[in-house]
Amino acid sequence: MKVLIINGPNLNLLGKREPEIYGNISFEGYLEELKTNFEQHQLSYYQSNHEGDLVDALQNADKNFDYILLNAAAYTHTSVAIADTVSAIKTPVIEVHISNIYSREEFRRKSFISPYAKAVIAGFGLKSYDLALLSL
Ligand code: DQA
Repeated sequence: MKVLIINGPNLNLLGKREPEIYGNISFEGYLEELKTNFEQHQLSYYQSNHEGDLVDALQNADKNFDYILLNAAAYTHTSVAIADTVSAIKTPVIEVHISNIYSREEFRRKSFISPYAKAVIAGFGLKSYDLALLSL
């Protein structure tokens, strides 16, 4: 299957950013592992720190991919625009989080995206992406 992984703000800092929460490997390094472990899928990757760019990426991916794995990072908790896009597009979106957003600060417990996501996987570290791919 053709799968696009979209990561939002600050996930370009994985490996350096709060390693006790997000681990100590970069997403680029981890992506190579994912590609090896899931060679039956065609994996593409996009990361942006900008809300509108994430909206564009979701719109452009629509119908060109079988699934989208979306970690909108902080925009999960704030972005009506990204939630509207997830609702508008036909390609199913699986919401992914590295940390368990329900066991952290109160403001992380609200996801604008979850109501429109096909499924949500959170709290398994980077393995959350593995689990999302395993489910396909
Ligand atoms: C995150 C959780 C968000 O609350 C946070 O803003 C992130 C990463 C996660 O993958 O655990 O940047 O989406």
